Amino acid sequence: MKVAIIGTGYVGLVSGACFAEMGVNVTCVDINKERIESLKDGIIPIYEPGLKNIVDRNYKAQRLHFTTDLPSILNDMQIVFIAVGTPSDDTGNADLSYVFNVANTIADHIEKPLLIVTKSTVPVGTSFQIRDIVKKRLAERGLSDLSFDVASNPEFLKEGAAVDDFMSPDRVVVGVESENAKELMTKLYRPFLLNNFRVIFMDILSSEMTKYASNAMLATRISFMNDVANLCELVGADVNMVRRGMGSDTRIGKSFLYPGCGYGGSCFPKDIRAIIKVAENVGYEMRVLKAVETVNNKQKNVLFRKFSDFFNGDIAGKTVAVWGLSFKPETDDMRDAPSLTLIKSVLDAGANIRAYDPAAMQEAKKLLNDTVYYATDIYDAANNADVLIVPTEWKEFRLPNWEVLKKIMRTHLVVDGRNIYSGEELSSYGFEYRGIGQK
Ligand SMILES: NC(=O)c1ccc[n+]([C@@H]2O[C@H](COP(=O)([O-])OP(=O)(O)OC[C@H]3O[C@@H](n4cnc5c(N)ncnc54)[C@H](O)[C@@H]3O)[C@@H](O)[C@H]2O)c1
Repeated sequence: MKVAIIGTGYVGLVSGACFAEMGVNVTCVDINKERIESLKDGIIPIYEPGLKNIVDRNYKAQRLHFTTDLPSILNDMQIVFIAVGTPSDDTGNADLSYVFNVANTIADHIEKPLLIVTKSTVPVGTSFQIRDIVKKRLAERGLSDLSFDVASNPEFLKEGAAVDDFMSPDRVVVGVESENAKELMTKLYRPFLLNNFRVIFMDILSSEMTKYASNAMLATRISFMNDVANLCELVGADVNMVRRGMGSDTRIGKSFLYPGCGYGGSCFPKDIRAIIKVAENVGYEMRVLKAVETVNNKQKNVLFRKFSDFFNGDIAGKTVAVWGLSFKPETDDMRDAPSLTLIKSVLDAGANIRAYDPAAMQEAKKLLNDTVYYATDIYDAANNADVLIVPTEWKEFRLPNWEVLKKIMRTHLVVDGRNIYSGEELSSYGFEYRGIGQK
């Protein structure tokens, strides 16, 4: 089977490498020449655990290829996946220009039957728009009889665990409108789900909606728990206890009940905005999701507020150690990271930042330039600091040497945005501790 994946970002590169690992002949395509040349040289442009090994192995075995030239390989493929970005535009709608660029290139060069699959997260109806673009152009080219199919196959992988998620998915959602598309997708995904085939086939519109609804549900759980955490602080309850008590109810479940400093990343913020817009465009208001967004925007200020409150707002000139910059651990992705909101507020207030992240320093530099000091490790970041703030819970932050930190920090305040420390333990070392949703 020959498959092309358009877009070699977090989703495209992982999907391409994992399909190749299962024996599929995959060509990954990107318009970014530098990225494609790096990939040919064995340099992986993103931080994703386990990805380099499978890219190297499959590139050497010639099951994985890289090119910038989609037209030259298009008619050798049975399936083409569109996995390019769909960021928010200025109005909050999904910007589909990258997706439609790819659709236009396909439309201009397709000469053989092909299955075109949308893997990018897109508003409901986008796959049909892609179908219409190709149909129209084929008619203009005098090729109206050429058969092609479209399908929707939204991706549910998590950055930081993307390879494992792709290799052993909970389920694969596929929207189809023809038997041919269903057969091809069944063949492609069977190796991943040999023991328990969990491909859920449905119509294309429902498949596109499933992705938005899933992200919306997860974001709702996060904002709900942040609201509960804020109330816990006011009434003297401990959200860590509340979370355990709630999560042991099988109807609720344990996952996604962790309060923190707001959700970020390349998906939740833009997808929540986009589904609100999808609804608006058909005259419906997503009231719950609007509240989810409002709560999240407010929660992104919680770390700064706790720091500022401790010093009664007198924070100009203070030094802030920030541990963790990426929007979550095990990724270098800085898009919409809560750390960025914190850093902006700190800098606006005239305080200084000493930042450290195990993987995202390069990406952070692109956004923050020389406005912050980039530390070599956690202790360098904490040197002479008036507060240690943790927006991202990397594993290497979990058991620091508090005695060393006590010596090197100027003021002994810890603001824990992910509730990874024990307030009791920290106070035994002489630190003031501020977690989320705790007394
Ligand atoms: N990142 C995630 O965790 C995740 C998870 C599930 C779904 N998604 C969705 O998958 C899609 C891709 O996300 P991502 O994070 O991988 O994006 P990304 O920004 O990391 O990568 C997109 C890539 O597409 C390339 N590109 C843009 N236009 C192109 C074109 N015309 N031809 C070829 N390449 C082109 C870009 O150069 C870039 O390398 C988005 O719709 C996103 O919402 C992302």
